Formats: sequence, structure tokens, C-alpha cells
Amino acid sequence: MNLIPVLTIDGPSGVGKGTVARIMAQKLGWYLLDSGAIYRAFALAVNGRNIDISDEFSLVEIANNLDLEFKAEAGAELVSVYLDGKDVSKVLRTEQTGEMASRIASIGVVRTALLKRQQAFAKIPGLVADGRDMGTVVFADAAFKVFLTASAQERANRRLKQLQNQGSEGIISQILADVMVRDERDSSRKHSPLIPAKDALIIDTTELSIDEVITQVSELIKA
Ligand code: DC
Repeated sequence: MNLIPVLTIDGPSGVGKGTVARIMAQKLGWYLLDSGAIYRAFALAVNGRNIDISDEFSLVEIANNLDLEFKAEAGAELVSVYLDGKDVSKVLRTEQTGEMASRIASIGVVRTALLKRQQAFAKIPGLVADGRDMGTVVFADAAFKVFLTASAQERANRRLKQLQNQGSEGIISQILADVMVRDERDSSRKHSPLIPAKDALIIDTTELSIDEVITQVSELIKA
């Protein structure tokens, strides 16, 4: 039995997992794990070392020695991510890095090598973990599990708004195509595919505000 309370929030790209996880972690006073950031940082590390993606020995070595640090800077909404001592927060969150992460995350030995690093985030008083396989694999015995969904069109719209808020631009048809390719890969892969845990509360957020999602997740924790 797991004595540390864990809330897992899984779902496809652009569904709002990160926002919901951050708000819930603040509300509960629990630690936060953005597992996608680990896969993204790993993809950047591999990319920077010019390694062939089929060289599993080197991939595992990089995963085992990943020099990664998360820092919550005062006043900042998102945590800063340091790879090899360098702030990579900006490049980490680009669509290109997400795409690289999705490719590399389908390799079984990579997932195994990064498993313990993710599980180590579970500490008293509790953890909110967001990703694709938090409720099915990494924290399979978590007390609270949520799976968020939304139509691909709505997720692409949200991603566009997010880009615009950051002062960037995007073309909705391209974003929609990217979202669909990434979902298909994340859902159909052999190792830890994106699927809801059997005991997860599934919330379709297409027509819901963030507040409405938070209310539903909070009710699950109280129940
Ligand atoms: O959540 P995100 O967009 O930051 O994740 C980037 C990619 O990393 C995602 O497309 C698939 C992979 N990923 C994964 O395979 N398992 C996780 N728990 C989190 C992310």
C-alpha cells in the first residue's frame, strides 16, 4: 500500500493537464511532477549529443546520468528547468521538443530508465503527477486518478491561445495536425501507451472551464 497520497492526471497533449496539475498541487500543498518535462529534457540531452536514436545503450546511459533540476522561481507561473546547469525552460516547451520527446518516449528502455526518477517525486505530504502513464504505470497504486480528454480541435485552439499569450504565432491547421500525429503515436505505442487507468475518473473538458475541471477533481479527492 502506498502511504503517500498521489493524484495522477493523464491525458493527450494540449488538454490542460499542466494547468490543472499546477492548481491542484497549490490547493493541496503537494509536490508537482511534470513528467513530460523529463521526457522533453531527455530528448534535448540526446539531441545535443548527436546520438543515433537506435543506440539503446547510449540512450540508457544518458537517461541514468541526466543532470536535471526543476526550480520554482518566485512569481513565475511555470517552473524553470535546468539541464546540465543551463536554463532550457523556453526550448523545452516548444512543439518541436514535444515532438522529439514523443518519439523518444516510445522506446521501452528509455521509459524503464526514467521510471525511478519520476517515482522519487512522491514525498510527504503528497504528489500531483501529470503525464501519459502516471495512473497506469508510474503510480499504478495512486489513491486518486484522473484522465482528461477534449476534442482535438479544442486542444489545438487552446494551444494556439497559449502560443499567442506567449507572444508567438501559430497556424491552427498545422497545430491540429501536430496534435493528431502526437496523440496517435502516444496512444498506439507498445510501451505505456496513453490510455486511461481502469480506476481513473474520466473528464471530457471540451466544454468545461478550468474552474469546472478543478471542482470535479477536488470532489474526487474529498470523496
Ligand atoms: O506532456 P508533454 O506534452 O510535455 O509530453 C511530451 C511528450 O513526452 C509526449 O508527447 C509523450 C511523452 N510523455 C510520455 O511518453 N509519458 C509521460 N508520462 C509524459 C510525456
